[in-house]
Amino acid sequence: MAGNITFTMIKPGAVHNEYIGPILAKINEAGFRIVAMKFTKLRTKQAEVFYSVHSERPFYRDLVKFMTSGPIVVAILEKPNAVDEYRKLIGSTDPEKAEEGTIRKMFAESVQLNAVHGSDSNENAIIESDFFFSKSERFSKDGEVYEVAP
Ligand code: CMP
Repeated sequence: MAGNITFTMIKPGAVHNEYIGPILAKINEAGFRIVAMKFTKLRTKQAEVFYSVHSERPFYRDLVKFMTSGPIVVAILEKPNAVDEYRKLIGSTDPEKAEEGTIRKMFAESVQLNAVHGSDSNENAIIESDFFFSKSERFSKDGEVYEVAP
């Protein structure tokens, strides 16, 4: 199953702008299956840990502040080659550089308010999915709990 999942967040700005539905429609049209999903809000410590790889970057504190500023949608998505396929769908981190038709081109406001997060590797897809979801919160296509040992 490795390589078939990616993790995404619809960020506070996109939630505030009522883009949850349109973004989920793009995800659906692109052939991703939703394995797990929740509407939640990050606490400061959680955002710091999630983005700890960027802790030395000048934008880190602003990123944490923004990501805790309102509710977010988090989800695990399934499709063959999910990480790369989803990165193609969302487009470049900076919406000004994103291709026409990508989620960030359509719904992002700036490099910080960039509408969605997508995992950058299979390893991070697993780490990020585990950060938000237990195994019993994941469902296979037939509606059964996903990858839980009998
Ligand atoms: P995301 O895919 O969530 O991963 C890290 C986030 O850091 C990224 O999206 C952007 O929102 C943010 N980010 C990356 N580069 C910059 C930058 N130069 N200035 C501000 N925010 C940035």
